[in-house]
Amino acid sequence: MSTQTQTLRLLLRQPYDIVVGPGVYAGGFRGASAAPLGTLRDRRVIVVADAGVPVAPVNVVLDELRSLGASVITIEASAEEHRKSLQEAERVLRAMSDARLERGDVLVALGGGIVGDLAGFAAAIYRRGIRWVQCPTTLLSMVDASVGGKTAVNLPDGGELRKNEIGAFHQPSLVLADISVLSSLSDRQFRCGLAECVKHGLLSGGWSMPDLLDWTERSLPAILARDPAALTSLVARNVTVKGAVVRADERETANGVREQLNLGHTFGHALEGLGVMAPQGIGGGPLHHGEAVALGLIAAAASAREFGLSDCVERVRGAVASCGLPTHVNLPAGDRILAAMRHDKKSRDGRLRLVLPSGPGRVVVRNDVPDEAVLGGIEAIAQRS
Ligand SMILES: NC(=O)c1ccc[n+]([C@@H]2O[C@H](COP(=O)([O-])OP(=O)(O)OC[C@H]3O[C@@H](n4cnc5c(N)ncnc54)[C@H](O)[C@@H]3O)[C@@H](O)[C@H]2O)c1
Ligand SMILES: [Zn+2]
Repeated sequence: MSTQTQTLRLLLRQPYDIVVGPGVYAGGFRGASAAPLGTLRDRRVIVVADAGVPVAPVNVVLDELRSLGASVITIEASAEEHRKSLQEAERVLRAMSDARLERGDVLVALGGGIVGDLAGFAAAIYRRGIRWVQCPTTLLSMVDASVGGKTAVNLPDGGELRKNEIGAFHQPSLVLADISVLSSLSDRQFRCGLAECVKHGLLSGGWSMPDLLDWTERSLPAILARDPAALTSLVARNVTVKGAVVRADERETANGVREQLNLGHTFGHALEGLGVMAPQGIGGGPLHHGEAVALGLIAAAASAREFGLSDCVERVRGAVASCGLPTHVNLPAGDRILAAMRHDKKSRDGRLRLVLPSGPGRVVVRNDVPDEAVLGGIEAIAQRS
């Protein structure tokens, strides 16, 4: 492990470490952070590997586990939303059962958010739950999906997907965020992770890190150049903020606490659900999740302005633009988007619950935002051609 490594302890009911830095797979399964795993000698370990991750980092993990005396089984999973499914979970579970994994054995999820959610779900339900290690390999999964223990699969509904409909809370015993694996990530996927970082920057003031957005913007040249020290710091800061929110509301039961992390997502999910296309300059095709969230953050800020809560639209738009994320898209009619937002599972009794910026680094959850303010927010991201 290099001197750049940062180890963050997440103090949940069962505390565990998130180890961040370049090259942390090597040696990551031994030492103090790996203690909750117990000895791996003669343990069976199943590694669920994202098919999109190059073989070299996968082999580092496999070699580490074998050198500790574990008997290792690998299974590949493909990072496609329609394959974040019960069928794929069953395939993983069957491999675990065929390999006779026992309660004391371990699963390692090595991949982006899709493979992490799928493999984590298998770990949550196999023999009522076995320990697992999360090795997130996209920026988004490092700064977001690797914190909080949410595991899930989607449920098909005609041609659409009910996202994350089936799932469980199941905290990992260890997270290894190896910054080196980000070198193979496409620029587009990399920028998607930055959208969640901007989101964290807009709410981090309530969680003892008021300068996160400023720091991120200042550090963007080094971040976009994928400088290992800047990336380590970026991931560590974001994990700290998300970890603080999750710690305050581990199971998303306290009204409006963990819900803060939904900032930009009610708008974003509606855009994703309606199949809104990304601008050609971004790469075209359907919007990626991070792109939809980036647009959602601008729309939320604009709604907050319409509602008279705060005025940070241009600040948010500037941050989104400097990350290379879209600030405008061709949209369907505003009332269609509003209808899709009402269907978001976060709304209760048909009342739209929105997380809105209320001041620098602060957000509030409101269920009394008038339609006009929401439509005004949507208008702020509509492409004018
Ligand atoms: N559990 C949570 O708290 C949580 C939070 C946020 C998102 N999610 C879930 O995460 C998923 C999105 O995750 P994502 O943004 O990581 O995308 P993803 O898992 O779809 O991965 C994006 C692409 O990058 C590839 N890839 C992964 N690592 C790579 C690497 N190192 N080099 C090259 N290619 C690589 C994948 O194969 C895939 O093609 C969604 O399903 C979302 O619901 C979960
Ligand atoms: Zn998100």
